[in-house]
Amino acid sequence: KGDPRLQGISEAIRVVPHFPKPGIMFQDITTLLLDHKAFKDTVDIFVDRYRDMDISVVAGVEARGFMFGPAIALAIGAKFVPLRKPRKLPGEVISEAYELEYGTDCLEMHVGAVEPGERAIVIDDLVATGGTLSAAIRLLERSEAEVVECACVIGLREVKVMACLLHCISDSAGSMA
Ligand code: PRP
Repeated sequence: KGDPRLQGISEAIRVVPHFPKPGIMFQDITTLLLDHKAFKDTVDIFVDRYRDMDISVVAGVEARGFMFGPAIALAIGAKFVPLRKPRKLPGEVISEAYELEYGTDCLEMHVGAVEPGERAIVIDDLVATGGTLSAAIRLLERSEAEVVECACVIGLREVKVMACLLHCISDSAGSMA
């Protein structure tokens, strides 16, 4: 709040009503990626926050966490760990299920991607119910990493993320119906 970069970031996010279905105000970050200043400002805000926090793991959530996480990891000197949808990772994985509106989905992480005691952050574009981030936290904690914080570009209301600080740089321009 109060950061002069936030207005440009908010304005660069396109809100698409009724996508992918009626009643949903879709927060489209592809327009943010097209705007060099807004994209760089977004990454820089996270880098400013995490560069001196002794973070060695940036975990990104497929797919849109992959668009911000690697840039943050490179800038703060951390590794990037992709948390993927099922059956995408070729090595041995651990899995955590999470609830969707209808049914469940799952995130997977490679065994051995993080060492016990490493300090991690989790990056995604948006948090809605917090189910996805909660699964990401469980994966890292099962691997004995310490999840210092979760961070998203966009926050929606009524978020419940288990036992972890959540840092969103921008509030949703619209709201979920
Ligand atoms: C969206 C978004 C987050 C998640 C947030 O991803 O990018 O990962 O939903 O929702 P939640 O807080 O209610 O769990 P989506 O499942 O659409 O996958 P995608 O990024 O691969 O399109």
